Amino acid sequence: MGLLPSTRALAAAGLASAVSCGFVPDRPTFSSEVSADTRAALAEADVSASDVAAARIGGALELYFGSPSAPGYHLTDAWIEDERDPGDAWWELSDEAADAVRDGNERRFAAQIRAVRAAIEAGAAALPDLPRPLRGGEAQARFEAAFAPLVAGEVELGGLHPDSPTAADASEDDPSFTWGDEALRFWESYYPTLEESAELFRTRCLFCHGPLGAGDGPTGRTLDPRPRDLRDGIFKWTEVDANRRPTRDGLVRLLQRGVRGTAMPAFRRLSRGELEGLVDWIRYLAVRGETEQLSTYFACEEGDVRPASVERAYGTVWGRWDEAEDHWLAVPAGPSPAEVTAEVVARGAELFRGSLANCASCHGTNGEGDGEAIWEEGEEGERRRRLDRWGQPSHPRNLTAGVFRGGGRPVDLYRRIKSGIGGTIMPAADASLTDDDIWALVHFVLSLSRTGGEPGR
Ligand code: HEC
Ligand code: HEC
Repeated sequence: MGLLPSTRALAAAGLASAVSCGFVPDRPTFSSEVSADTRAALAEADVSASDVAAARIGGALELYFGSPSAPGYHLTDAWIEDERDPGDAWWELSDEAADAVRDGNERRFAAQIRAVRAAIEAGAAALPDLPRPLRGGEAQARFEAAFAPLVAGEVELGGLHPDSPTAADASEDDPSFTWGDEALRFWESYYPTLEESAELFRTRCLFCHGPLGAGDGPTGRTLDPRPRDLRDGIFKWTEVDANRRPTRDGLVRLLQRGVRGTAMPAFRRLSRGELEGLVDWIRYLAVRGETEQLSTYFACEEGDVRPASVERAYGTVWGRWDEAEDHWLAVPAGPSPAEVTAEVVARGAELFRGSLANCASCHGTNGEGDGEAIWEEGEEGERRRRLDRWGQPSHPRNLTAGVFRGGGRPVDLYRRIKSGIGGTIMPAADASLTDDDIWALVHFVLSLSRTGGEPGR
């Protein structure tokens, strides 16, 4: 027990693997039933009545995250005070992201927006019949519920909306608005609910990532690399410091780009609103999974499930996600193409093979992915590849192929080398490497595929 790192240290490392009870925290399930690993960990640890403990963790998860058919978040006192509801993440978006969502809505709901605008401009009293939106049955249903009196013709398009300040109280900052204004705003600022995003996930992602995001969908089971298990909050292709949670914008860019060289597709046709909603759902699966892991860890440590500890787990996990933006890795300006001289590349080659950066130990002297450091002795004394966090054998990239999963631009490679690759054996760069050193490594790596595998010189 004395060897246990403190909760804070665990949180900082983004890990919560419990040493005390042999708990490998990577398999929670999405229901009030806890995962088999959670059960096993509780049974093995010194937790009294472990089946009761498991049921209590399951009950707590339902309290904090709702059920599969009605997902949502338990609101903390601080959130209620700040009027924050992470289940309605529209309010978290940067101005730029919010504008991108509105632009996307202009296209996705073009027919609805056009029809309402035209009716307002023509001074019509009634709402015209709106066409059903593309990929938006839920949006239609939400509209009909929120605007029932308008749809039924009981109120006029130009009549004052009930939420509006009355004409006498309206000011320039807060003008009075009509049913028509509100109807227009509904479509222009449409943002999916958590349920809608879960549904989109079920149709677009489930066959690979599995219903609960465990990476075990029917197609996913046969893939290499396996689809990410989204329940533990660890991602590979982020824009943040090592092992930090990804930023919203980083995840949106990932979904737009896909992961080259793997089965993970690019989702260019989805609107920005739909992509932001998927990010909400990815975060939901992760926060829920991480909360189960950390609660189980606390229960193992404390010998019992304490409500205060589950609450602490919930807060700690949210803290990791909320501070993501603070750990965004700004990339310093690198050399211009003209400044990438043979000397820069040669310096990169030297670092790559040297003992400080030590890239060759895994990637091999010529970057072909055949270094010695990836091997270890298995349980039977056999030689086997080191495993990643998800139990998959490690394959350092063959850098001469020029296929970069996290993006092939110099800034992407800078991030990969500086921060390492989350969940894999590839470490963050040694802190004594300077920005120039990292840029030299980037350009050496790029030179490997340009020269068709010739060691870059
Ligand atoms: C055809 C299979 C497939 C589909 C469909 C798919 N993915 Fe993936 N996804 C993968 C694979 C494979 C990886 C792992 C890539 C790797 O390890 O480099 C992955 C990785 C990811 C990651 C982790 C990226 C990182 O930085 O670690 C996220 C997030 C993700 N997918 C989200 C989604 C979402 C959301 C959808 C649906 C809109 C989706 N995926 C659809 C196969 C798929
Ligand atoms: C301990 C082993 C190890 C070391 C040391 C290591 N790598 Fe890696 N590297 C890997 C593995 C494993 C992957 C593949 C990760 C994956 O896709 O899951 C990888 C992937 C990469 C990629 C591909 C990124 C992409 O977007 O596809 C680059 C570039 C890279 N490494 C460069 C480096 C450089 C430069 C160094 C030295 C500073 C280095 N690596 C050190 C193991 C290592």
